Amino acid sequence: MCGIVGYIGYEQAAPFLLSGLEKLEYRGYDSAGICLNDGKELIVKKTKGKLLELKKLTNNGADINGTVGIGHTRWATHGEPSDVNAHPHLSDSCRFAVVHNGIIENYLQLKDYLISKGMTFRSKTDTEVIAQLIEFYYDGDLVDTVIKVLGKLDGSYALGVISRDCPDEIIAVRKESPLIIGLGENENYIASDVPAILAKTRNIYRLENNEIAILRRDGVKIINTDREDVVKKIETINWDIDAAEKGGYEHFMFKEIMEQPKAIHDTVAPRIKNGRVVLDEINLTPEQFKGFNKINILACGSAYHVGVVAKYVFEKYLRIPVEADLASEFRYRDPIVNEKTLTIVISQSGETADTKEAMKEAKRRGSHVISIVNVVGSAIACESDDVIYTWAGPEIAVATTKAYSTQLAVVYLMAIYFGDILGTVKKDQYDELVSELLSLPEKIKTVLANEEKVQYLASKLFNCMDVFFIGRNIDYALSLEGSLKLKEISYIHSEAYAAGELKHGTISLIEDGTLVIALATHEPLIAKTISNMEEVRTRGANVLCLACEDHKEIESVAQNTIFIPKCCDMMLPSLAVVPLQLFAYYVASLKGCDIDKPRNLAKSVTVE
Ligand code: AGP
Repeated sequence: MCGIVGYIGYEQAAPFLLSGLEKLEYRGYDSAGICLNDGKELIVKKTKGKLLELKKLTNNGADINGTVGIGHTRWATHGEPSDVNAHPHLSDSCRFAVVHNGIIENYLQLKDYLISKGMTFRSKTDTEVIAQLIEFYYDGDLVDTVIKVLGKLDGSYALGVISRDCPDEIIAVRKESPLIIGLGENENYIASDVPAILAKTRNIYRLENNEIAILRRDGVKIINTDREDVVKKIETINWDIDAAEKGGYEHFMFKEIMEQPKAIHDTVAPRIKNGRVVLDEINLTPEQFKGFNKINILACGSAYHVGVVAKYVFEKYLRIPVEADLASEFRYRDPIVNEKTLTIVISQSGETADTKEAMKEAKRRGSHVISIVNVVGSAIACESDDVIYTWAGPEIAVATTKAYSTQLAVVYLMAIYFGDILGTVKKDQYDELVSELLSLPEKIKTVLANEEKVQYLASKLFNCMDVFFIGRNIDYALSLEGSLKLKEISYIHSEAYAAGELKHGTISLIEDGTLVIALATHEPLIAKTISNMEEVRTRGANVLCLACEDHKEIESVAQNTIFIPKCCDMMLPSLAVVPLQLFAYYVASLKGCDIDKPRNLAKSVTVE
């Protein structure tokens, strides 16, 4: 996600801004910029690419004067990575500059309104709208104006605002996206995260939602949107830099597991308006969509596992034949694909070579391609016909978690959207599915709150060998991901198996103490999965079952059971995957593995 820094004091601001942005590089970004008030005007220097480019542009900050300024590293969500889309963004008259982390969900409507009032825009970003709104509503009091503008915004934001006419203050605002205030001696700072300011101070205010900070050289005032003073407790940071980059967690993977509720909210909320799923990114008319007689899903690894879930979901709700294919296999099997095939390509990085080449093969054969991608402007995003971005933010850990979960959320959005077009999802079902989708983040928080039980079970089972993950229907699709998570970070061999298939040979491998993780959330087949659990138990297996909380009877069949809240069938993988991620994490942690950078693996496999 984006990184914000700001400085107000008596020293030159540029060196702090550049070093602070450097400490936020771990968050991932594709462009960077700074803006300073040099006492006469606002000077902006910004560029696509890494911080090195910005340092070259500003001669390491030496060429840009000013003792008050803001800076930003951008992780693109709206508008591809480019110089013009980089932050800070200036208002029309260059009186105001803004840096932003988050998503303004109603920015298009606001932009249309401002254009109708004669304002012009330089970028494709949602952030520029904020700078223009401040200009449009400015009444001489910057704080009043910012408060008025906040009332117009829907979505999430951490903001840093400076003005040409107010060289002695920075305004900072937080709603959902984290923002901290660093407290110095005759100088103060803003930052998205602790690492940026640790070299200067360990005393901070952590802004809560809808709190506004007014930073001056001699102090910081915190108010709410009613302009009432807010008394804040100073927090002293005792972390070192390494821990600080992970938000205080030990690993990026754990941080990203915990970020899943917000990642799903950020991916779903902007695409549901007045109870309706809005997928403006898809350039297919209903007639064109109705012309497809098959859906092919192409991906690798965990993204492929999302594709297998999507097969069950789309066939259930769209009643169209769906194939989920390993991209590396698809391209070499002379696939039967034509203009009546809709191809969906799933990729976190948008750079996976096998997936990219498989997409090209599908396009060559006349298929329309929709991609589900997490990195804006990546190769797959640019070369597909339509792209639906998952707004999970940068995923640092090699083992994907929040990107996998947001990909599932996009699959649910597509099932509802296309089911409505085909008439296979009726009105009452539509409303129920939308409601369930919007409630997912809170249900995942409930599952995360139960993480100690998973940690306890991992402590009992981490020496296991040759683990089997079994499940039926959508539980089988999920078992693929549970198995890969365990393998890739703990190096324990495991297999995912269709529960009904075990007895056709592989059950010969079950012996005393073999760990079998049975996924039994799919309501219609629970009885059959229970009998599969009994099959392996009679052969000595140690069964850990993952089931919905209304099936307590399962506790008599499995040695250990993890319960998850109920939700509609197609969304159960979003809840059930969380204990599997946590189990893999804790097992790997107990085995002393390098969790964020597992051996032999890369975050994006850009070679065949
Ligand atoms: C998942 O934890 C792995 N890191 C890996 O399987 C990954 O999902 C796969 O390489 C696909 O990557 P992509 O989503 O970036 O295309």
